[in-house]
Formats: sequence, structure tokens, C-alpha cells
Amino acid sequence: MDVLEAIKGRRSIRAFKNEDVSQEIIEKLIDAAIYAPSAGNIQPWEFIIVRKLNIKKNLVEAASGQSFIEEAPVVIVVCANENRSSQGYGARGKTLYCVQDTAAAMQNILLFAYSLGLGTCWIGAFREEEVKEILKIPFGIRPVAIIPVGYPAEFPSPRSRRPINLIVHYETF
Ligand SMILES: Cc1cc2nc3c(=O)[nH]c(=O)nc-3n(C[C@H](O)[C@H](O)[C@H](O)COP(=O)(O)O)c2cc1C
Repeated sequence: MDVLEAIKGRRSIRAFKNEDVSQEIIEKLIDAAIYAPSAGNIQPWEFIIVRKLNIKKNLVEAASGQSFIEEAPVVIVVCANENRSSQGYGARGKTLYCVQDTAAAMQNILLFAYSLGLGTCWIGAFREEEVKEILKIPFGIRPVAIIPVGYPAEFPSPRSRRPINLIVHYETF
């Protein structure tokens, strides 16, 4: 699939078919993720693959009842290893680069998943401390987003985008 076609065709999917996604496909998504750029090539991302229903239910709770998380056969929780980034780049690494790096990796997952006919949604609204406890995430690792992955059971229309002339500034802001 053409890159622009994937960029423009992807939608956030919040309803999934009752159909499994193979481990092989999940590994392909992770492989796409790790080709994202990262500051100093530190690659601070960590991925937790969740298939167990009880863990998914706990994630739904931590995400204030976003129940479509448990509908998806697989959930990828993308984490930023703040320790690695801060070793390289101090406070800027910890607070900014590792979040940017993992965000780039997540976008790769979303786009490649779409090109494979899968649906995903970037979920950022969750209580971090709860997610850390549920998934036994150690100190210094920050869960950045939850991505349910499955075959789409809905095909939403595109959401509007702010027009380019309102957001692009030339030479100075
Ligand atoms: C940082 C971030 C956090 C988000 N958090 C949520 C969320 O918690 N729940 C949800 O359903 N969608 C969430 N989304 C998805 C957005 O609502 C969605 O991307 C936006 O409405 C545009 O729609 P589209 O992805 O279909 O183009 C999030 C997206 C981003 C980038």
C-alpha cells in the first residue's frame, strides 16, 4: 500500500470482529515499530502484548471504561523507557525524546496495521499508575499508549482536519 494511502485511509477503530490476530502479525507490527526514528538511536520503546481477558478488563477499568479495549483480541501497550533516554539526554531525554520516540513507533504500528487490514486505536486516556500496577511495569518505564488491535467491525468516515492555512506559518509564527 502506498504510504499516503495508509496515512489518509487509517481511522481510529473502536469495534472489532471476534477474530484472532496471529502472533506472526503482531511481530510484524512490532518490527515496523522499531524502524521509527529515535533520538540518538536510543530506541527507548518497550512493548507489552496482552491477550488475557482478565488483564484487558483491568485495562478497560484503568482507561475509564473504554470497553472496546477488551473486544480486541490483542492489546499492545507501548511504553517509554525513561531511564535509557535520560542516560543519553538527561531531563530532555526523559520528558520529551522518549515520548516522541515511542509516539513515532506507535504511528508505524497504526499505519502498518491498517495496510494489513487491521483496525487500531491510539488510547492515551488512562490512569498511568493503575496501568503500571496491572502490567507490573517497573520504575522508570512509562506506559504511553494502549493500542487495541483487531479486525475492524466498523468503518468510520474520516474526521475533519484543521485547514492547512490555519496551522502553517511562514518564516515566523
Ligand atoms: C495522544 C492521543 C490520545 C488518544 N486517546 C484516545 C482515547 O483515550 N480514546 C479514544 O477512543 N481515542 C483516543 N485517541 C484517538 C483520537 O480520538 C483520534 O485519533 C482522533 O479523533 C482522530 O480520528 P482518526 O484517528 O480516526 O483520524 C487518541 C489519539 C491520540 C493521538
